[in-house]
Amino acid sequence: MNHWVELDKRYFMDTGHRRLGVTLVRGEGARVWDDVGTEYLDFISGWAACSLGHCHPIVQEALREQASRLILASLDVYTIPQIELAELLLSTSGFAKLFICNSGAEANEGAVKLARKYGKLHLNGAYEVISALKSFHGRTLAMVAATGKPEYQAPFTPLPEGFANVPYNDVAALRAAISERTCAILLEPIQGEGGVRVPSEHYLREVRALCDERGILLILDEVQTGCGRTGTLWAHEHSGIRPDIMTVGKGLGGGVPIAAFLANERAACFGPGDHGSTYGGNPLCSAVAAAVLRFIVKEDLAGHAARVGRYFQERLLGLQEKRKIVREIRGRGLLLAVEFTLPVALAMAQACRERGLLINPIPPHTIRFMPPLIIAPQDVDRAVTIVESAIDQIVQAAASSEGVR
Ligand SMILES: Cc1ncc(COP(=O)(O)O)c(C=O)c1O
Repeated sequence: MNHWVELDKRYFMDTGHRRLGVTLVRGEGARVWDDVGTEYLDFISGWAACSLGHCHPIVQEALREQASRLILASLDVYTIPQIELAELLLSTSGFAKLFICNSGAEANEGAVKLARKYGKLHLNGAYEVISALKSFHGRTLAMVAATGKPEYQAPFTPLPEGFANVPYNDVAALRAAISERTCAILLEPIQGEGGVRVPSEHYLREVRALCDERGILLILDEVQTGCGRTGTLWAHEHSGIRPDIMTVGKGLGGGVPIAAFLANERAACFGPGDHGSTYGGNPLCSAVAAAVLRFIVKEDLAGHAARVGRYFQERLLGLQEKRKIVREIRGRGLLLAVEFTLPVALAMAQACRERGLLINPIPPHTIRFMPPLIIAPQDVDRAVTIVESAIDQIVQAAASSEGVR
């Protein structure tokens, strides 16, 4: 066993990660290198966080510049990078107010706190948040309750109360679940971790109308779909509606930990003492995020994600025509998935890794692609060629084991 693998196994609690088995030491653009010098094309990009690819000059420069000025202050003072980032986030999204924090889970926690405060002020103390089955909103206790995956919840009961999970893409289920206790609905515009599930065209519009009818808030979790990933800057733009609260993270920082929740005038009801964070909006990460977001907008990386994503999807559909094991291609922009008819997600990720491509398995049947937004069509071609060859290996192995039996 490799030295680093041995130490990792000795030191860390086994949370079932490290499934690809490589130790990365360097990254540049869409490429990474392991500790023995093997090069990989990285279509995971830090779980969609390295939006500009690895170690982009914009990120390096912002880090260097801000690290020599001011790294951390406190929320008792004003700092300029935080204000500049706030201005950019609000002007590109049309929200009124925001709070900057450090991770997607924390942003969603903040959004739920805001919705509960709104419930206290305007909805007779309503506090319940309805979210979807197969969703993913983070790993804190409250977000485990919001994340509609019974297998993530069972080991940690009793969970914080005030959450209900209903099927995704089902407006009638949401309607039936709303009661006088409900203050908000929390949804991903596309379910990422749940296997890249794109809802029907009218879903978000109908959910918006339902929230308006019942006077409750709509929170959209754009931690994974935001910052250009799906081909528009914010994924809800595809549906033409606006949530009351939006959470963002991942790609915003281009690899550094930063997230935020943004609200319209009506929902932005926090008052003094309601929320805080030691590192939230720290100058270092704020300066990087501002540089990243400015670059995404200036270079129209959302438009690039739409174009290259469409090409990628067409190439994958071409694969599907030739190979019966491919059941479905799903996604939008540069958030794409392939679902297989057999439980081969892990085997596919391993076979792709052996051929120099890192992809994200969502066992048992699905693999997910989240390349950096700067990805070139030639890299998509290379990835599809590798996926094709990995499929052939797996189909052959399945056929010969059938033969043995
Ligand atoms: C939609 C969504 N929300 C929230 C999170 C949690 O973000 P973090 O891991 O930064 O806490 C994720 C992470 O994958 C996510 O995909």
